Amino acid sequence: MSKTHDQISKRKAEHIDLCLNEDVVYHKSNGLEQFDFIHDALTEVLIDEINFETRFVGKIISYPFMISSITGGTEKAKSLNENLAIAANEFNIPIGVGSQRPLLESSEHHDTFKIVRERAPNVPVLSNIGAAQIVQLGNLTSLLKIIEAISADGLIIHLNPLQELLQKEGEVNFKGLLNKIKEIKNNLNIPIIVKEVGSGINQNTARRLLDIGVDVIDVAGSGGTSWAAVELLRNPKLENDYFREWGLRTSFCVKEIAKLKDEYDFTLISSGGIDNFVDAAKSLALGADMVASARIMLKTLELTGVEGVIKLIKDWFNGIRKIMFLTGSKNILELQQNKILRKEELF
Ligand SMILES: Cc1cc2nc3c(=O)[nH]c(=O)nc-3n(C[C@H](O)[C@H](O)[C@H](O)COP(=O)(O)O)c2cc1C
Repeated sequence: MSKTHDQISKRKAEHIDLCLNEDVVYHKSNGLEQFDFIHDALTEVLIDEINFETRFVGKIISYPFMISSITGGTEKAKSLNENLAIAANEFNIPIGVGSQRPLLESSEHHDTFKIVRERAPNVPVLSNIGAAQIVQLGNLTSLLKIIEAISADGLIIHLNPLQELLQKEGEVNFKGLLNKIKEIKNNLNIPIIVKEVGSGINQNTARRLLDIGVDVIDVAGSGGTSWAAVELLRNPKLENDYFREWGLRTSFCVKEIAKLKDEYDFTLISSGGIDNFVDAAKSLALGADMVASARIMLKTLELTGVEGVIKLIKDWFNGIRKIMFLTGSKNILELQQNKILRKEELF
């Protein structure tokens, strides 16, 4: 194994460990607590007839929920990925693998990613690569390699300038990034998903991405896992923790980017601190087409195993069904039509 490969593998293990055991969550909220649903006393919705099926990256999925990109490239990652994939398969929902950067350098740990496709043969499985790697790519052959490694249905490109800025080994040269994403979109015949990792995506950034044909925007806003917090823990030399709380709240990103629906055809994913069914339902009501979660999946898996993850997702959708009943929403489209307000407007 090369030295870089070894270092990446070690870093991945540290990330999992810190996200499971340390205080890595934003101290500020995802903003969704500022909103409340509008009760419909005259609801006629039949709870058991609510159907969540939707289309995502060319496949029918059963629920508008994705297990966000978490890991790969270390021994522990294999069993985590295996169990998360079992849960994704159970619900016929999409799952992202963690950054496949290790596979750009060697085929070591290939199995830690491939296990996802093996355990979830038919659901949308998404490749993942970071902005810092994208800008350094010569040709696109290596991307084809990581896509083929898991027979991916889409490619996630993660934007993480804050994380790179604070990471000991960080790379902060993103010159040419938008053009590179455009080149990838134009040359690879696969849906492109662009996400943040916790600092959020603003409306103008979303517009620039949609203008070059990006298919899916996953806001990954602030209020959940703080990558600044993770990197500050890994890098004690950084004294200034002002950046720990840097980022746009998930609710703000979703609300602003949803306004672009009139102009562009794309899928909007709400993520970043979506840790319960109420926040998931509020995200959908604010205009997201889907929601996604990372850290809570990892944590639930660690504490209660794959059965716990399956129970969690099941409970969430039972909860969302109840909210849809009480707001008179037969489907997600109806939930997106004026079913939520800022709390102060409800006085
Ligand atoms: C342990 C861990 C590892 C992660 N690794 C990646 C990664 O490799 N690529 C990526 O795009 N996002 C990665 N993320 C970020 C998540 O996909 C997600 O965007 C972020 O954690 C916010 O969601 P959350 O608040 O539900 O955790 C990781 C998250 C966790 C918790």
